[in-house]
Amino acid sequence: MKRAVYPGSFDPITNGHVDIITRASRLVDELVVAVMVNPAKNHLFSLDERQEMIREVCGGLSNVTVSTFTGLLVHYLDEVDIPIIIKGLRAISDFESEFQMAALNTTLDRRVETLFMMTAVENAFLSSSMVRQIAKLQGPVTDMVPKVVNERLVEKFGAPKINSSKMNQPGGLK
Ligand code: PNS
Repeated sequence: MKRAVYPGSFDPITNGHVDIITRASRLVDELVVAVMVNPAKNHLFSLDERQEMIREVCGGLSNVTVSTFTGLLVHYLDEVDIPIIIKGLRAISDFESEFQMAALNTTLDRRVETLFMMTAVENAFLSSSMVRQIAKLQGPVTDMVPKVVNERLVEKFGAPKINSSKMNQPGGLK
């Protein structure tokens, strides 16, 4: 049975994460989305909220489960007996830190392999931190996150001040 862990903060889950989860779920028998618990970090969404949103969005993927981990990722991998990490790679800027983490994780536990998946082009510049910033400043994030996440962001920060119809569409300005 092929199993893999997709770790992250998911604060909140974006369309980029959903794309990786969906594609990765087709490659393995079980994919565990592991939400990092970091009490030192000031998250926008609580751990429960982050898990809830992932569960709601990934409900249709029967081989995807959602879990949490605290401390070192390699300790969690050992605990669940899954030595495979799946990561998404966006722009080249991700490469250095991801390369470092992959190398260190394998140094900490030589059984651990990190498999990278390229994000879809439309998500190449999407990140949870940018989504948080845009939503906080009342910009539209409708096309960047699943519907349920957009609703939670509107609850927190209010409706966007500009309409998403003003956003650039694939193919550019006409
Ligand atoms: O979504 P993020 O915040 O980019 O995810 C980063 C994450 C959670 C995958 C990474 O920070 C991590 O693995 N943290 C756990 C602590 C750990 O194992 N650190 C050593 C990695 S070399």
